[in-house]
Amino acid sequence: MEVILAESAGFCFGVKRAVETVYEQAAGGGRIYTYGPIIHNEEVVSDLEKKGVRVLKEEELDDLQEGTVIIRSHGVPREVQRRIRERSLVCVDATCPFVKRIHKIVEKESRAGKQIVIIGNPGHPEVEGIMGWSETPAIVIETAQEAENLHVSGDRDICLVSQTTFNYNKFQELVEIIQKKGYNVSVANTICNATEERQAEAKLIASQVDAMIVIGGTHSSNTRKLYEICRKECEYTCFIQTLDDLQLDFPDSVFRVGITAGASTPNYIIEEVQNYVRINF
Ligand code: F3S
Repeated sequence: MEVILAESAGFCFGVKRAVETVYEQAAGGGRIYTYGPIIHNEEVVSDLEKKGVRVLKEEELDDLQEGTVIIRSHGVPREVQRRIRERSLVCVDATCPFVKRIHKIVEKESRAGKQIVIIGNPGHPEVEGIMGWSETPAIVIETAQEAENLHVSGDRDICLVSQTTFNYNKFQELVEIIQKKGYNVSVANTICNATEERQAEAKLIASQVDAMIVIGGTHSSNTRKLYEICRKECEYTCFIQTLDDLQLDFPDSVFRVGITAGASTPNYIIEEVQNYVRINF
């Protein structure tokens, strides 16, 4: 059996960097906290727990007396960083550099008097973090209707940024609506293409193999999307969470198997599946 593993399977650069940072800090001992779960994967979070890493809730921060607090790849508002440092806790910032870049743009442009408009999901922690770097209240826009309704008082210039995982076409659509409203708008396209690259590679591999395995959490929307993309290209596409779910009853005509994985799937699960398929088929 020939196995083709997608290079972009699993963690993106920013998440990988953040998870590695937590393991490094845990190896050094002491009280280690992550500000929110480092990743939406229970196995990784519980493995870290065994190594003494606790997930810190926002309301627990002000009671903390000592230890190291790690900021995850999504980033946090400036205020949270200040609270961590003020309490003499050690702050390890694992914010993805692509997200950090947005924080810097927002901080600088809002200081220059511009109205910050973020295109993204208002409830998402990354967006809440970005909002917290603006000197004046930022506006979040997610839909065309909200873009149509945008009103900036005092005719201030607008600085527009995007959540890193926002859909590019939708971003363009919303930018055009806002530009037509006559404001002076500077646009920073801050979309990260890690998700798109993962999807494009999965599509390509699925079109070249006889069977495709997609690994990821059943609640993970990005893994579900990967599955749908692959299923369109390859009839024998299966969706599994771990090796235990794998039941390979592919027809004899299957000689090449492709493997990809969602953004929260740790490498060891991908490796296990890959080795199993290589050895047993
Ligand atoms: Fe990942 Fe950073 Fe992009 S966390 S999705 S590499 S913005």
